[in-house]
Amino acid sequence: MGRAFVPLHLLTASFKKTSDFLMQTTTTPTLTAAEHLLKKNAEALLAGGQSRIDAQHKKGKLTARERIDLLLDEGSFEEIGKFVMHRCKDFGLDKEHYLGDSVITGYGTIHGRLVYVFSQDFTVFGGSLSEAHAEKVCRIMDLAMKNGAPVIGLNDSGGARIQEGVVSLAGYADIFYRNTQASGVVPQLSAIMGPCAGGAVYSPAITDFILMVENTSYMFVTGPNVVKTVTHEEVSSEDLGGASVHSSKSGVAHVSCANEVSCINDLKRMMRYIPQNCEEIAPIYPYQLGDERRESLNSVVPENANQPYDIREVIEQVLDSETFMEIHKDYAENIIVGFGLLAGRSIGIVANQPSHLAGCLDINASKKAARFVRFCDAFNIPLLVFEDVPGFLPGTEQEWNGIISNGAKLLYAFCEATVPRITVITRKAYGGAYDVMNSKHIGADMNYAWPNAEIAVMGAKGAAEIIFRKEITAAANPEEKLQEKVEEYQRKFANPYRAAHRGYIDEVIMPEQTRQKLIAAFKMLENKAVSAPRKKHGNIPL
Ligand code: HXC
Repeated sequence: MGRAFVPLHLLTASFKKTSDFLMQTTTTPTLTAAEHLLKKNAEALLAGGQSRIDAQHKKGKLTARERIDLLLDEGSFEEIGKFVMHRCKDFGLDKEHYLGDSVITGYGTIHGRLVYVFSQDFTVFGGSLSEAHAEKVCRIMDLAMKNGAPVIGLNDSGGARIQEGVVSLAGYADIFYRNTQASGVVPQLSAIMGPCAGGAVYSPAITDFILMVENTSYMFVTGPNVVKTVTHEEVSSEDLGGASVHSSKSGVAHVSCANEVSCINDLKRMMRYIPQNCEEIAPIYPYQLGDERRESLNSVVPENANQPYDIREVIEQVLDSETFMEIHKDYAENIIVGFGLLAGRSIGIVANQPSHLAGCLDINASKKAARFVRFCDAFNIPLLVFEDVPGFLPGTEQEWNGIISNGAKLLYAFCEATVPRITVITRKAYGGAYDVMNSKHIGADMNYAWPNAEIAVMGAKGAAEIIFRKEITAAANPEEKLQEKVEEYQRKFANPYRAAHRGYIDEVIMPEQTRQKLIAAFKMLENKAVSAPRKKHGNIPL
């Protein structure tokens, strides 16, 4: 006859804390099979022990399990590899084992959709990466690839498990390899919630988006001590690789979050806009079409073509209310990228920002937008571009740092994108930047311009000074002549009609019509299918 098992919840009911239960069972000489399982589960939950959990909380950080609980739909987490242990026998580690080792892995749902998660546990050897830790991460990445669902990594680790040496480095490489194989197949999101240093930074770096928590997380290849030894610079961890540095200076982080809870909320919000994998489209939310005119758009762009305005006002009024999620907000502020919904459908937005550097394209703007365009293209998210660009930023700083090859990144990214692509020119579309910003010539599907748009090789004054130089110099009143020629050039070229006559612009529309035109056009493009020429892969100018 089989043994009667006592339900787990009854076995634990009399203990307030996991540690009390463990204490009790440790002193009990014989355990039933169910009690033994329960004990092991309780042990795994306690990870590195209550004092380390308390220390984690004291730093203002959550534990690996608490983070998972916040991230996933309630009760949806299924753990994989809960009893896995490290195998190191060196430096006394044969006497120190923790069930699950230093990472918690598994799957669950966010807004009802499957995701795979790993959450590094700082309470076990500082979340450091052992061979077993790496295997657990690789296992869920393999599952994610096979089953077509996103991978979310919650990073909080002291790096390679020092006691394991090269085995740990090998584990990292196994993860980097999978990150790369999975790139473009399933979305990969990384949240940095503690230390992330040395080569360990390269796994998040390969993933699609990095979110960092302010004041408690940092990323660097070499820490402050090494920096001091090598360059004699004194710098804190925060100033070297904190959230604010990476979200504004280096561009490594896409989102900077005030605390862990807001970081997890941002991850969940991001999930609303992205599909499960490269074969699917993002979720579609119910939307009832109504009066889609937005009259307020008519007054956003100032009459004076040189006066700045905030393109976010346009974006927010065109998108469904309160759906714009800006990415990379504090980096290369002259271009804006982010997700939003249009009539319930996810789109990626790329927009020049006239209120910062007049919306010029520069190296950082190009890198930022190119990576975003490629993410959207890889995951079937249609692209909407708002264009108001006076050209590329001139100067030695830009030229010497490679505006040529960096600017080409954005050009290349748009050229290769096969998702539905629409551009709205809100004011200036000058020079090479006109071509780059999703022009018809590089594969955009529909291009609109507002009536005040200026589509030209350059601004009227610059153009007049070059082509009428002799006439202006010879004139009795050069100032007057210049003005006359500027106006002549403006009449001829500083409008959207030359481009519209040639079909480069599909329609000149009133700003208030923009939303309804875009809803109709994206709907029309819904089944767009383009096959790229057969190749192994292109060679984007990296
Ligand atoms: C093993 C580690 C560890 C590691 C921390 N611990 N890092 N154990 N391997 N890499 C252990 C500590 O011994 C300690 O154990 C516990 O984790 C918490 O660490 P503390 O130092 O007490 O915490 P804190 O003061 O918050 O400092 C965290 C830290 C520091 C800044 C991360 O621990 C640290 O500098 N660790 C070493 C970082 C490092 O150099 N890693 C290797 C980088 S090279 P107890 O038992 O006391 O709780 C690398 C190469 C990767 O990662 C290459 C990939 C290609």
